[in-house]
Order: sequence, then C-alpha cells, then structure tokens
Amino acid sequence: MDKPKLVSGFSKLSKRGKIGWLVENFFKNPEEVARELKSFWYGDEQKQKIFDEFSENTITNFYMPYGLMPNVLINDKVYCVPMVIEESSVVAAASSAAKFWLDKGGFKTEVISTKKIGQVHFDWKGDVRKLYKLFPQFRERIFEETSYITCNMRKRGGGILDMELLDLSHLEDNYYQIQMTFETCDSMGANFINSILEETARQLKLFVAEQTSFTEQERDLTVIMAILSNYTPECLVRATVECPVADLGTFDEGRISAEVFAEKFVKALRIAYVDKYRATTHNKGIFNGIDAVVLATGNDFRAIEACGHAYASRTGEYRSLSFAEVKDGVFRFWLEIPLALGTVGGLTTLHPLAKRSLEMLGNPSAPELMQVIAAVGLAQNFAAVKSLVTTGIQKGHMKMHLMNILNHLEASEKEVKEAILYFKDRLVSFTAVREFLNLLRLPAKSGAWSAKNSKI
Ligand code: MEV
Repeated sequence: MDKPKLVSGFSKLSKRGKIGWLVENFFKNPEEVARELKSFWYGDEQKQKIFDEFSENTITNFYMPYGLMPNVLINDKVYCVPMVIEESSVVAAASSAAKFWLDKGGFKTEVISTKKIGQVHFDWKGDVRKLYKLFPQFRERIFEETSYITCNMRKRGGGILDMELLDLSHLEDNYYQIQMTFETCDSMGANFINSILEETARQLKLFVAEQTSFTEQERDLTVIMAILSNYTPECLVRATVECPVADLGTFDEGRISAEVFAEKFVKALRIAYVDKYRATTHNKGIFNGIDAVVLATGNDFRAIEACGHAYASRTGEYRSLSFAEVKDGVFRFWLEIPLALGTVGGLTTLHPLAKRSLEMLGNPSAPELMQVIAAVGLAQNFAAVKSLVTTGIQKGHMKMHLMNILNHLEASEKEVKEAILYFKDRLVSFTAVREFLNLLRLPAKSGAWSAKNSKI
C-alpha cells in the first residue's frame, strides 16, 4: 500500500515549498509540473501577492477567459459588459441577443427593492408573551448599541431597517429567531450585517439575563448562531424586453415566421414554469450570463446562485425565473431575480480586473449593477430559448466545438476554412475532425482532397 500522503504544517510552507511537496507526492514528472504551475504566476510579484492573499494555501493562478458583451442597451444607456466564463458560446449568444434587442428599444430594467436579511437563531424556554412584551425595549437598545457599527452606513442612507421577533417553536422545540432587515447601499454588506448580528446576539443574552421578572430558566438563553441570510427575496430586480410580434423578424433562414417563433417561445417559457427538469436547465442558462458578470465584477456567485434557486422555489415548486407573453400583438419577455451585489468593498476593490470591470460599466451603484446583470441574464436566456425553439443549440455550439478541436489538432488557417465548409451540415466530433484533417493532410499526389469537392 502507498504511504499516506499526509502533511503537517502545510500552511506554513512557502509557495515554492507547497509546490515542491505537491509535485513530489502526486506527480510522476515533478519538475515539469512545478514549471507548469509556476508558469501561471504573474510576472509582477506585487500583483501576484494580491492574488496569493485572497485565499489560503495558494500555489498558482487558475485562468478563466475574460470576454466582452458590447452594445447592451439598458434604459437608453449603452454598456459594454465584462464576462468571465469558460463555457464556449455563452458570450457569443449573449452578445447576439444584445444586438437583436438593440434596435427594438433594448432592455428596460427596474430595481424593485434592495433589502437584505440577517438572523439571530436562539433556543429559549419560557413564556413567549414576556419576550414579545419586552421586544420594543430590546429593539431600541440594539439600535443604540450597534450605532458604532452603523454610523457610517447611516450617513450613506443605509443601516438597520427593522427587526422582528419570530416564534418558530412550532417548527423546532424552543426555537426563536430575531430577523433583521438592512440597507447596505453599494456594498454587498456581509461584514456589516454579520457584525451587527453578532452584537445583537451578545446583547440578547445580556438582556434576558437582566430581566428580574423572568424565571431563572427564562433568564438563560442560548444563542445558536447569528448570520446573514443569502435568501434576499426583497433585493429584487426586473429586466424586460418587448416589441410588436412582427418586429421579431423571421428565424432559421426565413423558415420560421415571427408569429410561430413567438408562440413557440411563450410555450417554452410555460414549460419551464411547470416542469422542474426544464426549469433547472432554463435557469442554468440565465445563470450562464449572470454568474459571468458577477464573477467579472468581483461579486459572490455562490450567494447569487443559492438565492436565485431558492427564489425559483418560492411557490413550493422549483420554477423558471423568467416569463413571456404575447398580448395585443406585443411580445414581452421578462426576468425577475433577487441579486444581492456590491460595487464597493471586498474583491470589487481588491481584484485589479474586477476594478476594471466596474470602471468599464461606468462605476455603477449596486442598484445599477443589479440592472445590468439582470439584463445580461435575460439576454442569455433569450438567446438560449431562441436557439432551442428554432435551430436547436447544437448548431451554434458545434461551430465553437469545431474551432476548439481544430485548435487542438493545430489546423492551419487553410485547413480551418476547409473544415468550416465541410462541417457546415455535418455532425462535429473529435474523430470526424481528426479523420477529416488526416485526409486533408495526405500528400497531394495521393489524391489531393478538397472539402468543396468532397462526397464524404
Ligand atoms: C447551456 O449551458 C444552457 C442551455 O441549456 C440553457 C437552456 O437550455 O435554456 C442552453
């Protein structure tokens, strides 16, 4: 049996030391792997240090493509949107949707609300009426006792909005909660909210212990945890596109009329509403666009995803996040999604490219970024469903797939042109492309081959 590859004091090793341990223990060609890992370091040591310090035990950087979605018309303002995503076709699809809607009025967006939520969960045994009676007093105390944390945010128009005592003992024995709502302006606000919640939890324990009208048992409260909720259904934004059906034009080289397209599109959206298998893929398509901009702007894509999927389940069934209708000859397509974002603080200021992304977007406020990202999600969704109800998605995907295979097989410019022509109406697979190139690369005298004249 192999010696177990355990290590102690790993975090204290230098970066080179960590790479050394890794390659010696897990790779057959340690020197080559070490060289490769180091080849992804920044040339500039100062910049590299910034990345190393974002996380722990870092040894190198993992690159992702950074692309652009230009010509996005939102509320009469044109944006060039940065997208970080590894999946081919996503940026191209979003960009084509942006272009499609550019001369049809673009995207109209609106922030519905910007409230964030935090909770103090606690265990308590006693007469709950006593707690409710004293709650207004406790509430006042919290506004006062947390003012050292909230003062700057209040100057910017934010802070604690409200707090409520919830009796949840019907769900779990002795379970109560203080639910607080916050306005965090342009910051995502996680540190702000969590600091207030922890102070509230501390004060809560002290407060009940001070109550002389409480029994001994009632004076003893156990705080289970204090943490923000990533479910923010009231940090909500809507993005819409609409135009007369006739303005949609025709699809699939004129084979599909605007009316048929609109009808199929609306039906596809209804299917995504009623069928959770389709809804999941449908929403995944929306998040292809949303996550890419969330990442590019240094925001927390896990929080955004978790919240989006929880919101999609708010009726008790997992459903689509977008909707479509045709009414009085007008096609309307919209998305409503909670997006808790920040444009100041955290990675948004530390990551050099996140900073550039925000600059490219005109240094938006958090509500403006919510609108840009919702519009991208809608564009992405439009592109996907448009492909699905017309040509299918493989046509577009295969083109990108073909280019990836051709690059991998080091095809020349001439070979690429021949291959694009040949695979226009044929199924792309790695084997088919390799065989095609092999034939193409046969010496001229063995029967030079051309895609144009080919019968295979
Ligand atoms: C692929 O990443 C996303 C799609 O599957 C989304 C959809 O089906 O709507 C194309």
